[in-house]
Amino acid sequence: TDGVTPAQQVLAWGMPRLRDLPWRHSRDPWEVLVSEVMLQQTQVPRVIPKWHAFLERFPDTATCAAAPLGDVLRLWQGLGYPRRARNLHATAVEVERLGAFPDTLDGLLALPGVGQYTARAVLAFAYESDAAVVDTNIARVHARHAGRRLTPGEVQARADAWLPAGESWEWNQCLMDLGAVLCRPGAPACHECPLAGSCA
Ligand code: ADE
Repeated sequence: TDGVTPAQQVLAWGMPRLRDLPWRHSRDPWEVLVSEVMLQQTQVPRVIPKWHAFLERFPDTATCAAAPLGDVLRLWQGLGYPRRARNLHATAVEVERLGAFPDTLDGLLALPGVGQYTARAVLAFAYESDAAVVDTNIARVHARHAGRRLTPGEVQARADAWLPAGESWEWNQCLMDLGAVLCRPGAPACHECPLAGSCA
């Protein structure tokens, strides 16, 4: 449609359909971090009850940092990859040492177990600052749009270029849902896709 950018079309498609997930109501960096770490290897329906239980016991970094690692690992049971729980505990200790939750890319990347994806997810979903999140779903959207395989650096560059300033939270959540719901790995629903007009 003339005069409407691809970003606006994605937001117009995505916002009315945005899945109502509990962490999408939070802007607390600790709560958002816990959700993103859990979602890295575990499906949404299994994460929801675990996220509530974990934050009930460890509502903030001070509580988690003060708890024995064994308590954190016990609450992690059933999620797998206990290394993620160790890193969350170490992150809580580090945030308490720093005195504040980091709110910059470099500050977040310095936390234990926090990589490019997680750091940008906290920037976008907790602080609503302009950061382009790239997970496997979003990387697939970009590669299909480009019509070729992309290196991780190329994907991040394209994601950065598309990011609509000031709408980072909405944009990243919508693109995540677009990748999961329309631009799915098997049979993509291109006929419903707001990016079809410009996609390879
Ligand atoms: N997977 C990773 N992050 C997510 C989020 N914020 N919402 C839904 N699924 C996700």
